[in-house]
Amino acid sequence: MKHIKVNDLLNNTKTLQEVTAKGWVRSFRNNQFIALNDGSTINNIQCVIDFENTPEETLKRITTSAAISVTGTLNESQGKGQSVEIQVTKIEILGDSDAEKYPIQLRNKPSLEFLREQAHLRVRTNTFSAVMRVRSTLSFAVHQYFQENGFFYVNTPIVTGSDAEGAGEMFKVTSLPFDETPRNAEGKVDYKEDFFGKETNLTVSGQLEAETYAMALGQVYTFGPTFRAENSNTSRHLAEFWMIEPEVAFNDLDANMDLAEDFIKHVIKYTLEKCEDDLKFLEDRLLDEEKSKPQAERSEMSLLEKLNFILDNNFKRVSYTEAIDILKNSTPNKKKKFNYIINEWGADLQSEHERFLVEKHFKCPVILFDYPANIKAFYMRLNENTEPGKETVRAMDILFPGIGEIVGGSQREERLDVLLEKMKNLGIEEEELWWYLDTRRFGTAVHSGFGLGFERLVLFVTGMTNIRDVIPFPRTPQNAEF
Ligand code: 4AD
Ligand code: MG
Repeated sequence: MKHIKVNDLLNNTKTLQEVTAKGWVRSFRNNQFIALNDGSTINNIQCVIDFENTPEETLKRITTSAAISVTGTLNESQGKGQSVEIQVTKIEILGDSDAEKYPIQLRNKPSLEFLREQAHLRVRTNTFSAVMRVRSTLSFAVHQYFQENGFFYVNTPIVTGSDAEGAGEMFKVTSLPFDETPRNAEGKVDYKEDFFGKETNLTVSGQLEAETYAMALGQVYTFGPTFRAENSNTSRHLAEFWMIEPEVAFNDLDANMDLAEDFIKHVIKYTLEKCEDDLKFLEDRLLDEEKSKPQAERSEMSLLEKLNFILDNNFKRVSYTEAIDILKNSTPNKKKKFNYIINEWGADLQSEHERFLVEKHFKCPVILFDYPANIKAFYMRLNENTEPGKETVRAMDILFPGIGEIVGGSQREERLDVLLEKMKNLGIEEEELWWYLDTRRFGTAVHSGFGLGFERLVLFVTGMTNIRDVIPFPRTPQNAEF
């Protein structure tokens, strides 16, 4: 008999018919009630065993995380908490799970930190299955938004010779032997002998390649893994993370901000509609977690209120210069509560400053724009008529409550001469980026784009607080298990 998914049994199937369900045991109570979950929903289906007619041997094998198949009649449930249940007539143990050895003992409320060490099994818990279903829905919504708005999906390379961000935080890709690397006449590693005949690395961003595609297809987006060898051991950084990078020909920075805001609202709205049960569960989880915190540290809004707040409000657009004024005059700056005190225009903003602006000052998502040129990447459009020494670029960062920077983007420098001058000053070799510069040589035009860190979005939508808990197998400094 074909088995029916638990989600369908709970929602769509007529009662009083014979059904089969397959899944993993979440709990087994009184030798009678199995809570069965198959991953299709946060909800379990209750399976009622006729224990008098079930061999003792079988009952013993109904343990947490055992895989089972049950057949029986779907009845309206007498107990509270569920609408239907299966009155079991036949049970088959598909795969045993030794209760003594199973690492996740739910009774002991395992911590998120502990569960990270069991990343292959943690997805069998309510919290992680909910997070991963939400993550999947969000990625569908990403594609849906762009596909429905005339964007083309472009797969930019994972292995590349360029450092798109110019920050030098790259993982090398090589097939050269470590102990006997071939050397050239100057004694330097001879990359001509390497697999690709040149120095290569894992991509930090698909932007530069995406720009070349935008200059032909008009509107494109990437959605793929990116890698950063930055030694940031924080709850917001991964060494391997997924980034979404749209790039649009003829868009200026204002249109870029409009796109980012509309896009984020769409994916959140879609996920609110599709993941009602999971988000409700995550909201309750968060409330529960916050009970242990002092009142002042608890969020003012519940998870669903926070998500709806994003949909109902415009993001506040603030220039870097205005933001610096606000920060300079802020209480934590004056009382020296910030780790980095803001003294003057030109300072790079730390996450403490970004969070102050979003969480304390504006209390809504903020788009900061027009940053000082020398704290941003080489490809950003230089603003005209700025004072010497106070040059700004058409950059924008979107800051979210509880997250800080979720999006980084800009209008791109489309003028060949200005771009070449900038690269020269930063020591970026023209020969390295000849293909990128060709877009400025042949039919250049105003264009813009941004990058959204997918895991930071998943963090925000699920209300989780550590980025390691929203990607299946996190890669961070000193950790690449699984
Ligand atoms: O601000 P970033 O470095 O911008 C770029 O890479 C541009 N090339 C994007 C573009 O304009 N096409 O990164 C973009 C976003 C950040 O705002 C953040 O959300 C995320 O990527 N991000 C990270 N997420 C997790 N772990 C890390 N180590 C991250 N670094 C950046
Ligand atoms: Mg950034």
